[in-house]
Amino acid sequence: MSKQLILALSKGRILEETLPLLADAGISPAEDLSKSRKLLFDTNLPDVKLVIIRATDVPTYVQLGAADVGIAGKDVLLEHGAEGLYEPLDLEIARCKLMTAGVTGELPARARRRVATKFVNVARRYYAEQGIQAEVIKLYGAMELAPLMNLADEIVDIVDTGNTLRANGMEPRELIAHISTRLVVNKAAMTMKHERIKPLLDRLGSAVKKRQ
Ligand code: ADP
Ligand code: PRP
Ligand code: MG
Repeated sequence: MSKQLILALSKGRILEETLPLLADAGISPAEDLSKSRKLLFDTNLPDVKLVIIRATDVPTYVQLGAADVGIAGKDVLLEHGAEGLYEPLDLEIARCKLMTAGVTGELPARARRRVATKFVNVARRYYAEQGIQAEVIKLYGAMELAPLMNLADEIVDIVDTGNTLRANGMEPRELIAHISTRLVVNKAAMTMKHERIKPLLDRLGSAVKKRQ
């Protein structure tokens, strides 16, 4: 394992809030990320590189050691599974909730519920725990459309303000989990590169506290 440190960052809404935290921890990209089509970036530190990838790919990169450290939503981590990963730090950004939701005023009537979601593992686990039979339908986005189109009775999705649900005639039902962005570390890297990763964790931890 090289002594280089590779950080995998989720592109999308988390990235904007991640960069100031990293800057506080002494790491800045060497160029403007938004002006580039590149995916692998140098930083101000010669031994630290950034990869900017889909949020759902971050756990895979870190688990398999292609990246040493990753930043991803707890929803993504719950769905992917945490094997081979440590999750030492809550960055306390992009807070939201993972919830079930359905058409406003409608009670979930069917004995066997059809549930549309991109979080199929989380959903299967949740309904099994509740003792509810669920047929889980995988979608890749716009879950809020599924009940309107009679594709599903219920959805499992991210809820923040509730605006997306309301705009589509839906309401939240049950809370599955509180979500925020987490820092994850490859288990082998945590040992092999401890002297490099420990100060990063400490500095990011302080940056998070400063913001509370
Ligand atoms: P995607 O393209 O997979 O939807 P996003 O960039 O929208 O990715 O979301 C990244 C992460 O931000 C999610 O994994 C989740 O943890 C969090 N998140 C998603 N939607 C919201 C929201 N409306 N408010 C706050 N946090 C959110
Ligand atoms: C996310 C999520 C919900 C919405 C919830 O979508 O998938 O649809 O935010 O937020 P709200 O409760 O404040 O309305 P996003 O904006 O990330 O769009 P996406 O479908 O591209 O993920
Ligand atoms: Mg999104």
